[in-house]
Amino acid sequence: MAKTALVTGITGQDGSYLTELLLEKGYTVHGLIRRASSFNTGRIDHLFQDPHEHGARLFLHYCDITDAANLIRLLNEIEPDELYHLAAQSHVRVSFDQPVYTGETTGLGTTRILESLRAVGSAAKYYQASSSEMFGKVLEVPQKETTPFYPRSPYGCAKVYAYWMTVNYRESYKMYASNGILFNHESPRRDARFVTRKITRAVAHIRAGLQDKLYLGNLDSKRDWGYAKDYVEAMWLMLQQDEPDDYVVATGETHSVREFLVKSFEHVGLKWEDYVEFDERYMRPAEVDLLIGDASKAREKLGWQPTVTFDGLVALMVDADIRLLEDQQKGVLGEVRGTREFG
Ligand code: NAP
Ligand code: GDD
Repeated sequence: MAKTALVTGITGQDGSYLTELLLEKGYTVHGLIRRASSFNTGRIDHLFQDPHEHGARLFLHYCDITDAANLIRLLNEIEPDELYHLAAQSHVRVSFDQPVYTGETTGLGTTRILESLRAVGSAAKYYQASSSEMFGKVLEVPQKETTPFYPRSPYGCAKVYAYWMTVNYRESYKMYASNGILFNHESPRRDARFVTRKITRAVAHIRAGLQDKLYLGNLDSKRDWGYAKDYVEAMWLMLQQDEPDDYVVATGETHSVREFLVKSFEHVGLKWEDYVEFDERYMRPAEVDLLIGDASKAREKLGWQPTVTFDGLVALMVDADIRLLEDQQKGVLGEVRGTREFG
């Protein structure tokens, strides 16, 4: 029988790719969205374009992850087979400005969902969006499932708490609850306040003569960057196993922000030094200098592996931003944006 999934954070980068994957697999998908003063469904609007196909199996509900009563009501109504908990205040730099709110959503939000599942007696399989940011000031290179955590931001601390609550509910209540410890993953749908998309978007604008300068912070930090579409496949695989478990998902390669910058500008034949300036505002009180993951367990147990290389990711994102800008200039995008009405 076709399964039902509930996705929190459905309007985010990962939520949108995961929803596409689940709909392709025949799932009915329910997503939680929060009320905002402007449309926030831009990443999933296209899924409603075919009302007889995917659109007929996709349902959205207002629910903030700070609202336990609403969560319980919706769990009772939806009765999901699988719950992918992706909603979070996910920006590391912002978490230094909003540590309490980040703890409330990214940390306690997870407990609220786990406790709501327990309260309604749900047998849903649960996926927790854990993060390589938990490794922080890394205690081992490369990082794997057994590497101890050393978070370096309020976001990292909140994710460590959420990780352990997931393990705790698994062990205490025999819930099927798995942590995906995902390293950075990017795409043309990445918000432009994360460094990769900030760079590729700027390259497209600079190339078109619409922007003179790109202001960035620390160019020396290194990340293990993969492609978001590959990573949501790993999330799904984690919930198809007989037993719950925790998995690192990564490419096994690391590159500096500077390397991403050089490659992005080179892709359009420009020199980054002519456009990039340092801005103190983008520095963090504490930095994560080096992330590189060992995804052997995911490869062996889930049969998962990444399909997009670092160079491929840069090219894919720069090309997408060039196309997006051209479409915006032609006025094409207006037809897709804001076509869904809620409330
Ligand atoms: P994202 O693009 O920032 O999306 C976050 C989602 O959470 C959005 O749908 C957002 O809604 C929703 N959200 C935030 N606060 C909420 C609240 N109080 N109530 C309800 N919904 C709320 O993040 P992402 O890149 O897709 O990442 C998905 C998850 O994986 C996050 O938990 C993130 O921390 C984690 N993660 C990401 C990466 C990565 O490299 N992308 C790596 C490891 C772990 P709006 O659209 O309304 O803002
Ligand atoms: N955002 C941003 N903006 N980062 C910059 C900038 C800038 O202008 N300049 C340099 N950086 C550096 C940051 O200091 C950091 O070292 C690196 O670029 C990556 O920053 P982000 O792209 O903001 O990602 P992140 O690694 O901090 O966090 C992302 O990955 C985590 C997984 O490791 C987020 O997606 C988190 O939600 C996720 O958990």
